Amino acid sequence: MIQLRSLALQADITNAKISLRLLDQTLLPHEEKWILVETNEQMIEAIKTLRVRGAPLIGVAACLMIAKLAIEKTSVPELLAKAQALYEARPTAVNLMICIDRMTKLIKSNFTIQNTVDLAVQIFNEDVKLCEQIAENGAAFIQDGDQILTHCNTGGLATAGVGTALGVIRKAHEQGKKIHIYIDETRPLLQGGRLTAWELKKLNIPCTLITDNMAAHLMSLKKINKAIVGSDRIAINGDFANKIGTYSVAVNCFYHQIPFYVAAPYTTVDTKCENGNQIPIEQRSAKEVQGVSGSFGEVLWAPAGVAVYNPAFDVTPAKLVSKWILDKAAYSKKDIEQGVLKSC
Ligand code: MRU
Repeated sequence: MIQLRSLALQADITNAKISLRLLDQTLLPHEEKWILVETNEQMIEAIKTLRVRGAPLIGVAACLMIAKLAIEKTSVPELLAKAQALYEARPTAVNLMICIDRMTKLIKSNFTIQNTVDLAVQIFNEDVKLCEQIAENGAAFIQDGDQILTHCNTGGLATAGVGTALGVIRKAHEQGKKIHIYIDETRPLLQGGRLTAWELKKLNIPCTLITDNMAAHLMSLKKINKAIVGSDRIAINGDFANKIGTYSVAVNCFYHQIPFYVAAPYTTVDTKCENGNQIPIEQRSAKEVQGVSGSFGEVLWAPAGVAVYNPAFDVTPAKLVSKWILDKAAYSKKDIEQGVLKSC
């Protein structure tokens, strides 16, 4: 039996079946409930509702779902149709598409159940390694005494490994650097306030939770001297999409002359995407802005029927980025201008 374990995903794999469990992230931090995902529809629902989330982890989870369907003797045409449905579950995170493309390419060219399962396991293990490499490359930019702002959740809950931006923070902490993290709560779904705060507390990394609109004020007081975020899709010119509010963080850093880093694996680079204008931005339900929901239930505070705009992501232009911290290396603006992301 193969057992895959991450902070938010568990897979038990035998020749006869795959048991796939997800930690329901909509209930964190107050309830730690693992849910068994048995059908493709359940996995799609889990991705759309953000029970499972984070660009790298949804890619990994989707591939394990495809492997599960293969073990259950789903025919090749049906397997491809189900893979396509998974592909469309979230539009911005390119890791989902890149990972599924790898699976479908194999299914079309050389399908066996074993091959399909092996590739999904490989994609899980590869993500663990990519996170380690990003953490190593990124920690070099973190110094003793740094007070670092981060946005959304980019840790073990968002990947199969230690995370991307949060993996860098974790590595710097493990290296003995005395750092303090400011966590943007990350409206509307509070991935910072609920998830990053939960992870950093578990890791004993000193942190302070702030609302998103407090960051500029803290920068003006010189309480924040670096910012690091993850990404859902990086264009080859270095523009990148990440959780809504990331662009504001970058603009605030630029104004205050604070280094702003983005950390991601190569599976987040869309080599077909020339610039940020080409990145599709997911629009989500008005309810997420009209109120909030979690293990405590649902609260709506806005007047019923008020118009809402709710893009899940924004695009930060390359101009505002100090370094792109990837698994292979950390890249400068000059590297990006020379087209280094084209061959990711
Ligand atoms: O909507 P989410 O919670 O999936 O958004 C996640 C992010 O924006 C992360 O920063 C990104 O996926 C990178 S996670 C390593």
